[in-house]
Amino acid sequence: MPASPPSDLAFVPFVSVQNMMRLIHHRGIENALRELAEYIEEDFRRWPSFNKTPRVASHSADGVIELMPTSDGESYGFKYVNGHPKNTAEGLQTVTAFGVLAEVSSGYPVLLSEMTLLTALRTAATSAMVARRLAPGGARCMAMIGNGAQAEFQALAMKAIVGIDEVRLYDIDPAATRKAQRNLASTGLTVTACASAQEAILGAQIITTCTADKQYATILTDNMVGAGVHINAIGGDCPGKTELHPGILARSEVFVEYPPQTRIEGEIQQMPEDFPVTEFWEVLVGTAKGRTSDQQITLFDSVGFAIEDFSALRCLRDWLKGTSYFERLDMIADPDDPRDLFGMLQRAAPSEDAA
Ligand SMILES: NC(=O)c1ccc[n+]([C@@H]2O[C@H](COP(=O)([O-])OP(=O)(O)OC[C@H]3O[C@@H](n4cnc5c(N)ncnc54)[C@H](O)[C@@H]3O)[C@@H](O)[C@H]2O)c1
Repeated sequence: MPASPPSDLAFVPFVSVQNMMRLIHHRGIENALRELAEYIEEDFRRWPSFNKTPRVASHSADGVIELMPTSDGESYGFKYVNGHPKNTAEGLQTVTAFGVLAEVSSGYPVLLSEMTLLTALRTAATSAMVARRLAPGGARCMAMIGNGAQAEFQALAMKAIVGIDEVRLYDIDPAATRKAQRNLASTGLTVTACASAQEAILGAQIITTCTADKQYATILTDNMVGAGVHINAIGGDCPGKTELHPGILARSEVFVEYPPQTRIEGEIQQMPEDFPVTEFWEVLVGTAKGRTSDQQITLFDSVGFAIEDFSALRCLRDWLKGTSYFERLDMIADPDDPRDLFGMLQRAAPSEDAA
């Protein structure tokens, strides 16, 4: 019997890097960030309905490779992501990622996507969704410390979602700052390159730290941070990898994604296990307070949680509807008779005539 063509379920929509870039331009970058933030907020608002676990991390001397799974009972998602701060010196990305969305009822995957770009977008959208609630009212200026791959996404999300109009850049590598300045030149943001972190935070109501270094770094010392700011700490996201002096944490109201993961990976790994934190989803649903005074320092100790990737994949799936920004990947072996997997293979043998 000749081999039958693959069934429809065998084909999984696959979003390549090329198609992701086309899709983002099709939607408009700032609009895409706003839409993503809405999906993320929607899922934060139904936080208790998700199956949650700290991500599974495989550490090495060079970096970390992580798997980030979650499910809402209907869909299941996971992301593969790495973090290798030494990579840029070798011409490679610090962070790369891809991910899958699957149907819980059958276990069949329904979407496979690049997620290096999508991670940069979802991280920025999450930061801005949080800053919109926690930053001091009328925040217009952000200091952006660490001007690598994530930087421009962070700046644009804060513009599109929080309404900042100025960004002050600093990186230990001036080439990174020049790159970010160039990329942000025509976005409508006023962009200032600064010679130190201290200079960058002058006049900023939001301070984003987004550096990559595999050590306990002190990007912000305690005396640099005054009252009434919001700190968006992105780069401290691994055991032994932090950015803030613990004195800042002691003076701040700290907001986190998922405490069991953040206590291992976030800035608060430097603090005692019972250091008080607020889960941000509770601020959204009104069971916890956000900013309560102009003088307060609010701190989003972001490490990146699986639900944000799930939301991003869910959003992407909706973006794809009616478009051609994907390929159909023959990924799942799906024989007509489900128990005849071997027969399917056998029927695919090249015939002797053809050989
Ligand atoms: N929280 C999250 O959800 C999340 C998501 C993605 C990435 N990250 C983290 O964000 C960080 C940045 O990621 P990226 O992809 O932009 O990395 P990147 O390597 O492209 O950029 C990092 C930049 O930090 C700069 N830097 C290093 N030490 C510095 C210092 N002491 N002062 C100022 N600048 C310094 C480097 O020169 C580089 O330009 C990484 O640590 C990554 O793990 C977090």
